Amino acid sequence: MAGPVLSLKGLGKRFGASPVFSGVDLDVASGDRIAIIGASGSGKSTLLRCINFLERPDEGRVILGGEPVGEARQRGGGTEMRYDERALNRLRQRVGMVFQQFNLFPHMTVIANVMEGLVTVKRIARDEARPKALAELARVGLADKAEAYPAHLSGGQKQRVAIARALAMEPEILLFDEPTSALDPALVGEVLNTIQSLAEDGRTMLLVTHEIGFAYHMATRVIFLAEGGIYEQGTPDEVLKAPRRPLTQAFIAGHRRFNF
Ligand SMILES: Nc1ncnc2c1ncn2[C@@H]1O[C@H](COP(=O)(O)OP(=O)(O)OP(=O)(O)O)[C@@H](O)[C@H]1O
Ligand SMILES: [Mg+2]
Repeated sequence: MAGPVLSLKGLGKRFGASPVFSGVDLDVASGDRIAIIGASGSGKSTLLRCINFLERPDEGRVILGGEPVGEARQRGGGTEMRYDERALNRLRQRVGMVFQQFNLFPHMTVIANVMEGLVTVKRIARDEARPKALAELARVGLADKAEAYPAHLSGGQKQRVAIARALAMEPEILLFDEPTSALDPALVGEVLNTIQSLAEDGRTMLLVTHEIGFAYHMATRVIFLAEGGIYEQGTPDEVLKAPRRPLTQAFIAGHRRFNF
């Protein structure tokens, strides 16, 4: 594959008068696994949410598979971006997202949750969607929970269902926003193992995480967000073992304090 699967060019987002980040440039190649780390409030979630347009960026462009998302219009001397809701829905199929709080539908069985996007968004017939959904559940080790309701699953199982649901849409890129931070410590491992197996399959992913050890082993690149942008980036060895800039150094030192 030639160019990046995803590029951000000068991406910026503010809430009211307060900028969260600006001027974020990033190229993601097929198979990249990018860990995004940073202090609480540094904009990690907002960055992921801007990539699949759960939030509208205020500046810059998101370019998916070489094609810019949205249309630039000249207006009053400046450029204004227009986003067509149907185009954004297509984009969200190509960029899957897994949330900290799973976001499963509580009134639907596990299999119905995984089938939902296939049936309502991709318009695949139910009898075709079902085996596809079951295959994704099997991939995360939960085929036997197909008929259960989310309330009867552990947090780790819920998160694996949410991952199966994202995978069912066959996204080109997966976004994970702290997928293990709502979990009991004992359940973190099973979700990390699932993500690890997706990594081994060569999936392209951006992962916001506080699990620095996991980021070290799993990421091909690490981005540290601070001061309204990408403050430092590099390989896991560079950023996590030998950070060069002071805020990165302080952040990593804080995380390493209780390692043994
Ligand atoms: N919908 C919103 N309206 C107003 N401000 C917001 C909104 N969402 C986020 N913010 C602000 O934007 C900043 C970045 O928030 P964000 O949630 O992206 O941080 P984060 O790095 O994901 O933090 P955490 O590690 O706590 O999840 C914060 O100051 C936050 O208060
Ligand atoms: Mg967050």
